[in-house]
Amino acid sequence: MFGVAGPLAGAEVLELGAGAGFYTRALLAQGARHVWAVDRSPEMLQQIHSPGITPVLGDVTDVKVGRSFDAIVAAGVFEFVPSAQDVLANAGRHARDGAWLVVLYSRPSLWGTAFRAFHARHGLDIHLYRREQFDAAAARAGWHIEAAANCGLFCVAARYRKARALAAA
Ligand SMILES: C[S@@+](CC[C@H](N)C(=O)[O-])C[C@H]1O[C@@H](n2cnc3c(N)ncnc32)[C@H](O)[C@@H]1O
Repeated sequence: MFGVAGPLAGAEVLELGAGAGFYTRALLAQGARHVWAVDRSPEMLQQIHSPGITPVLGDVTDVKVGRSFDAIVAAGVFEFVPSAQDVLANAGRHARDGAWLVVLYSRPSLWGTAFRAFHARHGLDIHLYRREQFDAAAARAGWHIEAAANCGLFCVAARYRKARALAAA
């Protein structure tokens, strides 16, 4: 994921679906100044304690963090929401013009299908996305693809950019 991320030095980052903070801590280690870490699970957020992190309890599809960002990360959360588009649109509402968004999602390979079947046994409906399907959803939310790479057995890491508003003539 860090292979496709934008610049992190001094960045204030919004992280959607932070979980127990694996990437949150890594973002700080990579130079981010502060991370607003959103998750719907209080148990997960309780595991995040650091001066550089503001935990935010909320749903990634409609949380309002109350500020905008130049850098947004959403890793491992699209599998758990019914619509990636809703997360991408909410990321867009928190993005400044020219902001970058880095995502990590699962694709429907053989291993992705096995991952889905594993979670189905625990009652979880996991969503997998083909690249073109995810890129189209991102574009509808105002995010334009800049870089993407397959990683692991069934994941895609991708960076998108929010278009800058045209200056008034
Ligand atoms: C697999 S974990 C990924 C955590 C972290 N990003 C990582 O990669 O280590 C998925 C996280 O997404 C959170 N999550 C799932 N759906 C969510 C939603 N609609 N709103 C907020 N958080 C959600 C879960 O609570 C969980 O902590």
